Parts: sequence; structure tokens; C-alpha cells
Amino acid sequence: MLRTIHRIVHGQETFDGAGVKLRRVFGFSADNAFDPFLLLDDFGADRPEDYLAGFPWHPHRGIETVTWMLEGRVAHGDSLGNEGVIGPGEMQWMSAGSGIIHQEMPERGEGRLRGLQLWVNLPAAHKMSPPRYRGISPDEVPRVPLPGGGSVLVLAGTYGGVTGPVRDVVASPRYLDVILPAGGAFTWDDLTGLTVFAYVIEGAVGFAPDHAGPVRRGSAALFSDGDALQALAGNDGARMVLVAGAPLREPVAWRGPIVMNTQQELDLAFREFHAGTFVK
Ligand code: CO
Repeated sequence: MLRTIHRIVHGQETFDGAGVKLRRVFGFSADNAFDPFLLLDDFGADRPEDYLAGFPWHPHRGIETVTWMLEGRVAHGDSLGNEGVIGPGEMQWMSAGSGIIHQEMPERGEGRLRGLQLWVNLPAAHKMSPPRYRGISPDEVPRVPLPGGGSVLVLAGTYGGVTGPVRDVVASPRYLDVILPAGGAFTWDDLTGLTVFAYVIEGAVGFAPDHAGPVRRGSAALFSDGDALQALAGNDGARMVLVAGAPLREPVAWRGPIVMNTQQELDLAFREFHAGTFVK
């Protein structure tokens, strides 16, 4: 059975961190419709004054983040001692687990800044695991050519027999970046029981059965259940990320950068942060 569009979300322009212009595609939704995914930010701006303030030191607990850089460069540092700069085509995977404090500071560049940050929820049994971090270089991201033109960058999970470099996320998501020429088609199989969404980075994409949508740049489609997804790019071609994962179906207690299962766990996290005992 083909998946159909269940909901289109257009996201909201907002500022976060110390004043970074971004599009919050989804996040902080009461019905947890994207479970196990909590939030997707498309951070980007043409003018350095809209991104240079960055995301100074802040804590995370109970989640994993996957960052996919499209344009520009972001310097990163964390309480584990990791430090570096990620640029176009690079990825960063961070499992906050029991607690990490980090900062993400865009660097002034020639052009714009653009990247996607996806928050993946950690199941209760893993929320207090030791934090971990991994940076992934562009040559670690495999590209699978599509028969009708275009290609698929495999970021996580397996597509076309090729497995992406982000392998340690507990919820085992599949994450593809799909580039399609004008009218190009793409099919994704074996999706039964998973939460599946598409976020359009450039152009417009229609979805089976009747090229529904089209979903345009800056919007996401959440799909109904089914085994396969069929996408068709519009006349200007398209680029989108496709993400799938098994829902956790656990209670969510969420405040800012910390996502736990109960209010008590949330209160404890903030008490520890203010007492200086947050990082284990
Ligand atoms: Co952060």
C-alpha cells in the first residue's frame, strides 16, 4: 500500500539560540505526531547578522541530534572536549544522553548559512546513557545514483544496499537526502509501521497516488502508514530529505533543550543544571 500525505506542515520562522534566524519545521507539538522525531530546524540566513550570534553554551539531556550542513560553517564545542568546525556536506551526531553542554557558533562566511538539525528522542531506557559525539566528513556520506537521473545521499539507515554513516542513533532512523531532476521520480520501500516524513529543501515535490501536494521548499509532509512512498519532482527539480523511524510511544516531558519522560525528571535536570551537577 502506498503512503499518502497525512499532514503538511509549513513550519514557522523564528529566532533561537542567541538570535539565529531559522525555520522550525516542526517541534514542541502536543500530539507527538512525528514520534520518535521531536523537532526539525532549518537554520539559515543570507545575512551574517541573522546567524552570527549562534547557539552559545547550553545543555541537552534525553535526546540525540543529527545536524546536516548544506552551506556555511559552524564551530562546535562540548563538555566532552570535542571541538571542531563543520562545513557543507558534513554531519554531526550527538547523543546527549545523561547530559552534555555544548555550543554551536556559525562562522562569518562569503554567503549564506544553511543546515538542518533533527532531534531524535531517546527511549526511557537510554535517556541517562553516557553522552557521545561523532563528526562525519563529506567523503563518508555515500551517494547512490538514481536510474532516471538525480541521486540519493544516504545519511542514516540503508538505501540501495548502501548504509549511511550515522549508525548509532538508538531509534535507528533512516535518513536520505534526495536530489531529483525536473520530473524525476523516487520510490522508497519497506516503510510499514514507521513514522515517515519528507522535508523539501529546494523546489517542489508531489506524492503518490495523484502527485498530491505539491510540497514546496520549506514545508514538510507527514505520511499515513503503508509500505512505500512515491515522489515526483516538479518542473524545476527538487531536493528533499526523507526521514523514517519507529515510534517510541512513550510519554514526553519537554522543556527547552531537555526531553524526559516525566515532569519529575525534567525538574531534576534543571535543578542539577543550576547546581552545576548536570554533567555526569
Ligand atoms: Co544544542
